[in-house]
Amino acid sequence: MPVDFYITTPIYYVNGEPHLGHAYTTILADVLNRYHRLFSDEVYFLTGTDEHGQKVQEAALELNLPPKEHCDRMVLHFIRLWEKLGIDYSDFIRTTEERHITVVQEILQRIMDKGDIYQDEFEGWYCVVDERYFTDKDLIDGNCPLCGREVNRMREMNYFFKMSAYTRWLIDYIEEHPRFILPDFRRNEVLGFLRQPTRDLCISRPKSRLSWGITLPFDEDYVTYVWFDALLNYYSAVKDKGLWPATVHLIGKDILTTHAVYWPIMLKAADLELPQTIFAHGWWLVEEAKMSKSLGNVVKPLDMVDMYGVEQFKYFLMREMSPGSDASFSEELLVKGINADLANDLGNLLSRLTTLVNRNYDGIIPNGGEVDEEWRRLGESCVLMLKDALKNFRMDEIVKLAMTPVRRANKYLEETSPWRLVKQDKNAAGRALFNALEALRLTSVLLKPIMPGKCRDILQRLRAEKTGLNWGELNAGCKIIKGEAIFPRIVKEIPPPDKEVKKAPTVEENVITFQDFERVEMKVAEIVAAEKVEGAEKLLKLQVDLGIEKRQLVAGIARYYSMDELPGKKIIVVANLKKVKIRGVESQGMLLAAVKGKTMRLLTVDGEIPNGTKVL
Ligand code: ME8
Ligand code: MG
Repeated sequence: MPVDFYITTPIYYVNGEPHLGHAYTTILADVLNRYHRLFSDEVYFLTGTDEHGQKVQEAALELNLPPKEHCDRMVLHFIRLWEKLGIDYSDFIRTTEERHITVVQEILQRIMDKGDIYQDEFEGWYCVVDERYFTDKDLIDGNCPLCGREVNRMREMNYFFKMSAYTRWLIDYIEEHPRFILPDFRRNEVLGFLRQPTRDLCISRPKSRLSWGITLPFDEDYVTYVWFDALLNYYSAVKDKGLWPATVHLIGKDILTTHAVYWPIMLKAADLELPQTIFAHGWWLVEEAKMSKSLGNVVKPLDMVDMYGVEQFKYFLMREMSPGSDASFSEELLVKGINADLANDLGNLLSRLTTLVNRNYDGIIPNGGEVDEEWRRLGESCVLMLKDALKNFRMDEIVKLAMTPVRRANKYLEETSPWRLVKQDKNAAGRALFNALEALRLTSVLLKPIMPGKCRDILQRLRAEKTGLNWGELNAGCKIIKGEAIFPRIVKEIPPPDKEVKKAPTVEENVITFQDFERVEMKVAEIVAAEKVEGAEKLLKLQVDLGIEKRQLVAGIARYYSMDELPGKKIIVVANLKKVKIRGVESQGMLLAAVKGKTMRLLTVDGEIPNGTKVL
């Protein structure tokens, strides 16, 4: 292998701005990469953006921009965020780049020539949002099993990749390579999936339906399915550098199948080597829901970063998620985590030691005398165990191990009380201080991959910038540099979720989750008839057709619409509103309208769609 460690992140869709989930994967990849560098590996780190496909085309359309222009704008959000988060990637690939397109076409042609791509007619349920076809039994309540939205029946001629011919091979490969898919339980998920009958993969989209993609080299009426295009980025970006295969594809569990099934089969069919490991981490949850662009409950990582500090933020993310499982994000947990570990354990130790050394040793790091064996063993085992945790992507463990010397040093200071000891035995007190300072130094070296700036600052103050992983590298005789509190304690009241306190919601607080929104059932209804309500000038009684049922609504629209212009109009109604009587007339549902001053306009749909269609 040309480098010791080549890690990738997913390439993110440019249909929305990056959020905490994207930030997490990228930070984790950066941190893993930096740990490998700390242990003298030669490393390479690739990230980028996924710019083709329906989602991106639609996002561009909504903004009235040509897709490429939309991509050029969106990609900046990612690049700026990575810069802000101090992400030290080696290369950033965009799937609209020529270097990528050429490779995708080359590989498609190669697999075609080999006979693993064929043409066939295809029929199925298609979800526009997920860009995937489903069979009858895939659907949940007739809707998309992934996003719950409506699916459409579609039939078309397409190109297929003979995945089914390779499933036996893949099962064997996964079983023979226990580190190919990690964590273990994810490997079992994939094997379970593969043991069901597998279908061939539709890898084309007719340009009549989707034009934003890479043209098939053997049929210019089609573009390449976005996943077949996207996965190849890992190879196309490094092909000319000779860096393939990757050591690790770091992904979220949402895209496990594409990476653990489609991708290895694509590589096999193209006679390319497989990556060593695919590691799928869990999801960050905010109020128990996965964060995502389509759900709209996106924590703006940049906001928290500015409020609490980039490196503190990164430290928290690394500490908080045990990468196999999901984790919850909240401001309260973030503040607690920063205060407990960084302000108290680490920051406090630095300021305490600086004060003690200044007061008793004129700021000069005292001599440690003979190496303290117990401390040396502790330091050594932390480094060894950390290397092991690194192999298994246990970032929470890594953080704990890196913090161990500092935690131990805080206890050790209580035990040895150098502030008292110094009055009886200045050498002994000096040795205790040396050990505590050395513990602080080692923790700082071990946390450098997560907080490079802060750790460099601590090491500079200890005059130990160039020191490494061995116990005892601290230089006695140097003058400690005094400085400000490195991790100031965050003093912020984060209101507990107290139901008693009721204030008027501010704009920012008055946000709802997608689940809240989803409880409101809105449907397209056609007005069948309209008549006056006796004795009420403003009201009209409407009969509406909701597809499977007819309803009666009472609406205050008489001043804005005449009775005879209403029938035939398709409006939007809230269908699950409790039944009420208005002026003695039953009303079941509410129509939606925009109201300003003396004008009111009904909300309608922008084209033909069946009565009763759900509004999302
Ligand atoms: O899937 N928690 O792009 P994407 C943790 N373009 N990680 C999360 C997350 C969450 N709540 N939400 C997103 C795509 N992520 C494709 C990938 S790769 C050849 C093509 C992270 O923009 C996580 O890494 O939807 C997840 O796999 C990725 O963002 C999906 O990003
Ligand atoms: Mg996604």
